[in-house]
Amino acid sequence: MNEGDEFLTVARVQDVPENGQKTISVDGKSVLLCKSEGQYFAVQNRCTHDMEPLTGGVVRKCTIVCPIHGARFSLRNGVPFGPPAFEALAVYEVRVEGGAIQIGRDPKPAG
Ligand code: FES
Repeated sequence: MNEGDEFLTVARVQDVPENGQKTISVDGKSVLLCKSEGQYFAVQNRCTHDMEPLTGGVVRKCTIVCPIHGARFSLRNGVPFGPPAFEALAVYEVRVEGGAIQIGRDPKPAG
C-alpha cells in the first residue's frame, strides 16, 4: 500500500441517510460525511469563506450549503458555486466495503 492509499472505516451505511450527514474526525481534523443521490462524499468540515463548520448545512443534489452565509459547494470536488466562498473544500476519497463507509486518510487536492 502506497502512502496516501490508506482508508479508514468511519461509519456504517445506515448512519448516513440520503441527504444526511455525519460529522467525523480524521487524524484530529473535522470531516463531514454526506450522502446525496445515492453516493457518499467526505469534505473538510470547515467552510473556506469564514472557516465555520458546515455541519447542519442542507445537502442535496450532491451539494452542501454552508449554514452560516449560504455558500454552496459541490460535494464531488469541493468547488464553490459562487460568493461568498471562492476556495474549494478539500475532499476525501470514499468507498463502501461490506456496509462500512471508508474514507481515504489524506484529502485530495482541493478542486
Ligand atoms: S462561513 Fe460559510 S459562507 Fe461564510
